Amino acid sequence: MNKIIDKNSIRDEPDTIINAKKIFNISKDIDVPCYSQPDQYVPEIDPNYHFDEETTLAILAGFKFNRRVLIQGLHGTGKSTHIEQIAARLNWRCVRINLDSHISRIDLIGKDAIILKDGKQITTFNEGILPWAIQSSTALVFDEYDAGRPDVMFVIQRILEADGKLTLLDQSKVISPHKYFRLFGTANTVGLGDTTGLYHGTQQINQGQMDRWNVVTALNYLSEETESEIVNSKISNLNESFLNKENIYNMVKLANLTRSGFKNGDLSTVMSPRTVISWAENSIIFKDIPYAFKVSFLNKCDETERATLSEYFQRCFGELLPEDWLSAIIEKQIIEPNND
Ligand SMILES: Nc1ncnc2c1ncn2[C@@H]1O[C@H](COP(=O)(O)OP(=O)(O)O)[C@@H](O)[C@H]1O
Ligand SMILES: [Mg+2]
Repeated sequence: MNKIIDKNSIRDEPDTIINAKKIFNISKDIDVPCYSQPDQYVPEIDPNYHFDEETTLAILAGFKFNRRVLIQGLHGTGKSTHIEQIAARLNWRCVRINLDSHISRIDLIGKDAIILKDGKQITTFNEGILPWAIQSSTALVFDEYDAGRPDVMFVIQRILEADGKLTLLDQSKVISPHKYFRLFGTANTVGLGDTTGLYHGTQQINQGQMDRWNVVTALNYLSEETESEIVNSKISNLNESFLNKENIYNMVKLANLTRSGFKNGDLSTVMSPRTVISWAENSIIFKDIPYAFKVSFLNKCDETERATLSEYFQRCFGELLPEDWLSAIIEKQIIEPNND
């Protein structure tokens, strides 16, 4: 990410209005302020994106009324891309920061750096992404909000308030947010810790922090019809006829079997919508649905659960998976080269 601040590139007020009902295909008739032109920080439009009504309304409230919106849901359900795709249609700048364990306070705020100027060494402060974003009409998205380190969460806490100013202690400087700065977050848990066993590295979020999010909305799995439509639209760009609608519907059905298997305790891995999309894409690449299933999902699953997955596969596609895919894959790879 280019952190050089070009003051001229800071855009001001939204200069037009769009009707959300038409643009996002939702039932509520609301007008939302937006920009007429994109710039380099506005995400690209995915023309086939399907907007979930409740999630879209929450995000639009964030843009229009400066609400702090947190979207919670299982992995790969479209949390981050919903925000990005709405920003893309509003021509609103949008920058995503993944708060996984590698991001530190210094990455966000900035740090002193030594540079050469006129042959002399001088120390200057290199602003991080946060001071830059907060002073411009940018929608900042904190992804994996529940995985942030304590030092990072401490920095974020202040700016969560609508008039939240950012204090740069080392600089003795206080930064006020731009009138059209917006803040969103996505998380797999609701801040109460991981109750599923799926999300290592997430933490409980202090109630003082959770309290500062004005709108918390959940985006879990979609209906089979909607999910199939999404997968269909993703592969329609590939201009391929290898998969038909029925194949895709069966893929989504299998994904749903893994989700209920997970709920009942039969499986420890769930197939996300993101994995269904890559299974469909891989099927086209390899021209082979079972093999694509193997490389997209089966190989990520515990060996003891693969027989169950083979049975799910049979229920949806009428055939079992080859026996030798189900066990001892790693051992075989080690033994085989010695057989020469
Ligand atoms: N409603 C949707 N319409 C179109 N594509 C979607 C939709 N929801 C998810 N996707 C696709 O699924 C993948 C995962 O979405 P993402 O937003 O990264 O999930 P999350 O942030 O919830 O983990 C992306 O490739 C995205 O384009
Ligand atoms: Mg995400």
